[in-house]
Amino acid sequence: MKLLALETSCDETAFAILEDGERVLANLVASQEELHRRYGGIVPELASRKHMELILPLAYETLEKAGTLLTQIEAVAVTNGPGLIGSLVIGVSFAKALSFAQKIPLLAVDHINAHFLAAFLEEKKPPFPFLALVVSGGHTALFLVEDYLKFYLLGQTRDDAAGEAFDKVAKLLGLGYPGGRIISRLAEKGDPQSIPLPRPLLDKENFDFSFSGLKTAVVNFVKGLKKKGLPIPVHDLCASFEAAVVEVLVTKTLKALSVTRVQDLVIAGGVAANKRLRKEFQEAAQKMGFRLFLPRPEFCTDNAAMVGVAGYQKWLRGEFAGLDLDVYARSQFPRYK
Ligand SMILES: Nc1ncnc2c1ncn2[C@@H]1O[C@H](COP(=O)(O)OP(=O)(O)OP(=O)(O)O)[C@@H](O)[C@H]1O
Ligand SMILES: [Mg+2]
Repeated sequence: MKLLALETSCDETAFAILEDGERVLANLVASQEELHRRYGGIVPELASRKHMELILPLAYETLEKAGTLLTQIEAVAVTNGPGLIGSLVIGVSFAKALSFAQKIPLLAVDHINAHFLAAFLEEKKPPFPFLALVVSGGHTALFLVEDYLKFYLLGQTRDDAAGEAFDKVAKLLGLGYPGGRIISRLAEKGDPQSIPLPRPLLDKENFDFSFSGLKTAVVNFVKGLKKKGLPIPVHDLCASFEAAVVEVLVTKTLKALSVTRVQDLVIAGGVAANKRLRKEFQEAAQKMGFRLFLPRPEFCTDNAAMVGVAGYQKWLRGEFAGLDLDVYARSQFPRYK
């Protein structure tokens, strides 16, 4: 069964073709990084216009890469939220048109659900139930996942997402956009213990996160140095900031594993591409004996292959969307009790 998946929730236009929900025949991502860089963040109106420009040529390119004819595509899966409304509308309208013209089912996918299902694109697949930590540009959340499309929220960020904090700190230091990858590269040459930074909500008895206080601590540290006319130790600051984010994510997640007594952990979302995060979780898994499922970095950042995994599960269940399918900016996930 061949399925075409697309993703336009943010600033990546992405298409993939999957066979039987797991074999990736093509996976293409057109990033808009260049376009938004000079603004130091995503400009929603520019993002949707760019999606319009890229969507059709990228669809053709994906079919060609996969050696597939449009007539061989049996269903179309699309992200309809959460994300930027204008960007989502472009992808969803495209998918509706394709579904209508080709008379194939339309499958609506939640972007966060798709992020953790990226783990199924790897050879070693997680067994249910598992815990999923989604760390991305807009989300930092822990889920108990009972089945592909059935999952419960244990906790999430109360303010900034981890990726957002990376991006804001990078902007503050004038390092460029998007910040995660840049900070993580500079951090490699710094001492993660050199600058004391807070670990927000670390000892609270819940699974919520907060990263805006950490960002403010970085702001104050930089202000203090500037006032004294001292240089900013960029490498050390990046390393210390990254270490603080990673420590909070690891500690909270380990606590959730122990409380739920779940043995399998999936980590996904753009920040899951972070080397320090991957290394610390790998070490913890070895030490504590849980199994870790880390999708390769290109399946962590936004892509359509992960949307295809979720879409395929909807197709199997006959959960088809109608042409009245709407988009949404935020997800409401059921709570873990
Ligand atoms: N190596 C890295 N280290 C830390 N952060 C990273 C790294 N690579 C990417 N990121 C961060 O990941 C985020 C992008 O991830 P992703 O594409 O999943 O997010 P998004 O789609 O914008 O948000 P969401 O999935 O919540 O809608 C950015 O904030 C970016 O800075
Ligand atoms: Mg994302």
